[in-house]
Amino acid sequence: MQHDSSDKHAIQRPRHIAVVMDGNGRWATRRGLPRTAGHREGVKAVRAIVESSAERGVGTLTLFAFSSENWRRPRNEVSVLMSLFLTTLRSEVRRLVDNNVRLRFIGDRQVFSERLRVAMNQAEGDTRDCSGLNLVVAANYGGRWDIVQAARRISDQVLAGRMLPEDVTEHSLNDLTCLAGLPDPDLFIRTGGERRISNFLIWQMAYTELYFADCLWPDFDEAELDLALADFERRQRRFGQTGEQVIGRVDA
Ligand code: FPP
Repeated sequence: MQHDSSDKHAIQRPRHIAVVMDGNGRWATRRGLPRTAGHREGVKAVRAIVESSAERGVGTLTLFAFSSENWRRPRNEVSVLMSLFLTTLRSEVRRLVDNNVRLRFIGDRQVFSERLRVAMNQAEGDTRDCSGLNLVVAANYGGRWDIVQAARRISDQVLAGRMLPEDVTEHSLNDLTCLAGLPDPDLFIRTGGERRISNFLIWQMAYTELYFADCLWPDFDEAELDLALADFERRQRRFGQTGEQVIGRVDA
């Protein structure tokens, strides 16, 4: 929840980018392939954006890999996605460490298979000391779920007498959400042409700039990322102030 518009002349770069990777299914269907082939191709685009973001000095990249609602998909698609997560985790951790990328997961992981949970914990542990890009993968995540779990935890504190109701503030609640300790996303990117947030980081994206790309996720490459960054650079972020205040013509 940091709002900083102090350095008005530096290139405006997002510290944190959040991405909804939409369009894998359509990418595959257009080629006469099963939808799951699109998810496999999507993994290649994930690899590319992780490396391009790290090269461009982005601090945190949060990817929506699987929403709380994605369990409603056909059973076979869910099962292919789960095995894709597992194999990708196992095969990519070495590369993440080599690129100094710290991986963490957000979402309710209790529902995943034990094998997958073990691999998630292992990957988080293996990359814990990496100090470059923070890669956050949202898996079985929903923005409303995040707010509810934070509210439950804060209620427990109040009930236990460790907090007073008046201690419940935006900051104390934020500290119990999944992205506590990381800056809010500056830029949200959604591929695939739809213009929705789809219950992603709804608490954290109160002031996030929204960018919608028409290309499908497997086609989202370095050049597409640069288009999004160039668009972001032109945005004036006001955080409730007037445009004149932001450019410094009027006293804040
Ligand atoms: C949405 O496209 C995509 C998903 C629900 C899955 C995203 C998963 C990956 C990109 C693969 C693995 C990711 C990691 C981090 C290992 P869609 O299927 O809704 O596409 P459609 O709108 O064309 O049907």
